[in-house]
Amino acid sequence: MLVTGSAILVPARAGKYGVGAFNTNNMEITQAIIHTAEKLRSPVIVQMSEGAIKYGGQDLANIVKDLANRASVPVALHLDHGSSYASALNAIRMGFTSVMIDASHHNFEDNMAETRRVVEAAHAMGISVESELGRLGGIEENIIVDEKDAFLTDPEEAVQFIEQTGTDYLAIAIGTSHGAFKGKGRPYIDQARIAKIGEMTSIPLVAHGSSGVPADIIARFRAAGGDIGEAAGIDDDDLRQACQHGIAKVNVDTDLRLASTVGIREVLHANPKEFDPRKIFGPAREVMSQVIEHKMRVLGSVGKA
Ligand code: G3H
Ligand code: 13P
Ligand code: ZN
Repeated sequence: MLVTGSAILVPARAGKYGVGAFNTNNMEITQAIIHTAEKLRSPVIVQMSEGAIKYGGQDLANIVKDLANRASVPVALHLDHGSSYASALNAIRMGFTSVMIDASHHNFEDNMAETRRVVEAAHAMGISVESELGRLGGIEENIIVDEKDAFLTDPEEAVQFIEQTGTDYLAIAIGTSHGAFKGKGRPYIDQARIAKIGEMTSIPLVAHGSSGVPADIIARFRAAGGDIGEAAGIDDDDLRQACQHGIAKVNVDTDLRLASTVGIREVLHANPKEFDPRKIFGPAREVMSQVIEHKMRVLGSVGKA
């Protein structure tokens, strides 16, 4: 069933497990996300970025909503990185049940003002809201505290931000970053900061940039002719630990991009004569499903629906 983000994330925070928020851009990605959630009895969030809305529009939103309405587990349709009040309202008009207003590039006061405006409108329509405080980006373990404090989320500011905006869940900067190149080796995640923010707050916390960039997927990508540099993602243990301390929504896009490309590449590499789209996109959907299943097991959402 299609539900709000809060209906999924409040129990996750209380139960100390994470729920995957997977980005979709087409039918096969949406099927992989929702059908895997059903198979594993896991709640799930399907998210569309503004780029996904530009690409798939209401057609894609309707595919998500239809699958969600027919699903036997709770599914939310979420706007990822909404850049303005207008964008958030447009998503609500399209039938989204959760929206993000990302005003994290503004100063603290302006971020709060913009977030508050979206919260007021969204709550009037029964829709839940994610906002962001801090700047996403990889960090080195040994950089000095002052440098970390310059862009990672400050715990006291997080408390004030939540109180003054009424946001339903908050994305925090803790060392994760978007994309397939999150650092050299195992990217450093500021677990102490997550634990502190978790202790001082009670709403669900959100980790962006949480793809694992699995080594076996990268190896298959290369074996099938793909060219990728020093790819690195977030370690499974870092996510397990983070979910014990308040992270409840875990954003994953890159892993699905890599998995689908691996599926497509492997078919075309092995059989250059293939041109039936079902034989190309079908295997891509299968590789994505395996990656999604792994993530749901790591986050502990399996069996929670
Ligand atoms: O955080 C960004 C997501 O990976 C979505 O990316 O804007 O290219 O759709 P996109
Ligand atoms: P990844 O690039 O790690 O998949 O992060 C996606 C994300 O944060 C979407 O908002
Ligand atoms: Zn993000």
